[in-house]
Amino acid sequence: MIMKLLEERIRHDGQVLPGNVLKVDNFLNHQVDPELMLTMGEEFARLFRDNGITKVLTVESSGIAPALMTGLKLQMPVVFARKHKSLTLVNDLYTATVYSYTKKVSNKISISKKFLGAQDKVLIIDDFLANGQAVAGLIEVCQQAQAEIVGVGIAIEKTFQRGHQLLKEKHIRLESLAKIAAFENGQVVFTDDSDN
Ligand code: G4P
Ligand code: NA
Ligand code: NA
Repeated sequence: MIMKLLEERIRHDGQVLPGNVLKVDNFLNHQVDPELMLTMGEEFARLFRDNGITKVLTVESSGIAPALMTGLKLQMPVVFARKHKSLTLVNDLYTATVYSYTKKVSNKISISKKFLGAQDKVLIIDDFLANGQAVAGLIEVCQQAQAEIVGVGIAIEKTFQRGHQLLKEKHIRLESLAKIAAFENGQVVFTDDSDN
């Protein structure tokens, strides 16, 4: 199964850093493994196949690779929220502020109104779910656009941080391909799928 594949890759190539951060820059966050991204995209597409998704939504930069493959398999367009100021008039954008606990900075994310609207059924994809602030920002722009949020697909979830609970409270379906319960002595402890 894909989940096992990703877990094995995390065990093999992931590096646990201080502050509960998992470094996965040799297959996801810097160097990217296209074959693995495609496999993840296939799995997200399978999980959400019957939900009438019209758009896959993510935020730059690391969400783009898995989101792109998901859109490829669902045969639907992928939109990524931008973090940087564009020259476009603010009136033409949906925007939200995203605070990163990891980086201790706030970023504005924005999406052109051209690419999201009330007719859309959205699948949100991201690389990590930690405190859930990036996903919360994407949910906010969907609400501004009056688009329907069908669910959230995450490559690597850290179940011990706040994002999981935040989505549960909002009654939004969450599918994560690898679930990390804890980091112990520099090792990754995955959740036992039976207790989820
Ligand atoms: P949140 O979005 O869940 O609230 O996460 P948080 O603010 O804690 O993290 C901010 C950034 O750090 C996000 O990337 C998020 O994907 C990433 N991140 C969170 N936890 C981890 C981790 O354990 N390992 C790694 N590698 N990244 C983590 P970003 O700022 O949006 O950057 P990017 O998408 O351009 O890479
Ligand atoms: Na991210
Ligand atoms: Na990231």
